Amino acid sequence: MQLIKVKDYHEMSELLTKYFIDQIVSKPDSVLSFTTGKTPQEFLMKLADAINYGLDISNCIFMNLDEFVGKKDAAYSVHRFMHTYLYDNIAVMPKEIHMINGEAEDKEEELKRYGNILKQHGRDIQILGLGINGHIGANEPGTPFNSRMFVADSLETTMRSTKDYYGLKEEEVPTQMYTMGFTEIMEADHVILAASGSSKAYAVKAVAEGEISEDMPASILRNHPNFTFIVDEAAGALLK
Ligand code: PGA
Repeated sequence: MQLIKVKDYHEMSELLTKYFIDQIVSKPDSVLSFTTGKTPQEFLMKLADAINYGLDISNCIFMNLDEFVGKKDAAYSVHRFMHTYLYDNIAVMPKEIHMINGEAEDKEEELKRYGNILKQHGRDIQILGLGINGHIGANEPGTPFNSRMFVADSLETTMRSTKDYYGLKEEEVPTQMYTMGFTEIMEADHVILAASGSSKAYAVKAVAEGEISEDMPASILRNHPNFTFIVDEAAGALLK
């Protein structure tokens, strides 16, 4: 694990952008897998700026870690988020964009379809946000470390943060999510986990200094040979 401490959310976003730019410049046909949430918002906007200033992504493949079961245009969908923060803001598109179809009628078929895409396209970078309980994607505490792409039932805590984050009504809150399992996350050549803010401090400490355990999902990343953990001052406040 390479632990990198930055000052705040802005520095974190700048550093994330630098990792992605360097990757794309050194390998123009990179396969990059994104995540959603507050963590990558500013990073995605900065990446859009870089693309509009000439960073050539036309040979890249972009994809995503997860997606809610629900309508593509729902306020909370990964599809909508990626359009809002990236795809609607760039003039040149990557060669291919892959996202999970949260509207699919047959979930097993959708898991198979996206699973095949993952098999075909090994990821150069997977970026992840950290849940306050240590989750990555929808791999919540207790998920076996050998998990493969699956549909997860969301925890109460996760549903509450989705509700608050998107200002949803109770009945609008999605209850299930497609997610890469630990297996597919660990397949990426480089995994970057980013955490900002004091609400993440407990999870950051547990991931960096605690036991590697299914009770703290992101701790598995310490077994990855190329794992970068970026934390800002508030998120890293409890570290030794
Ligand atoms: P956040 O969420 O980026 O909105 O903090 C991370 C997560 O809970 O996975």
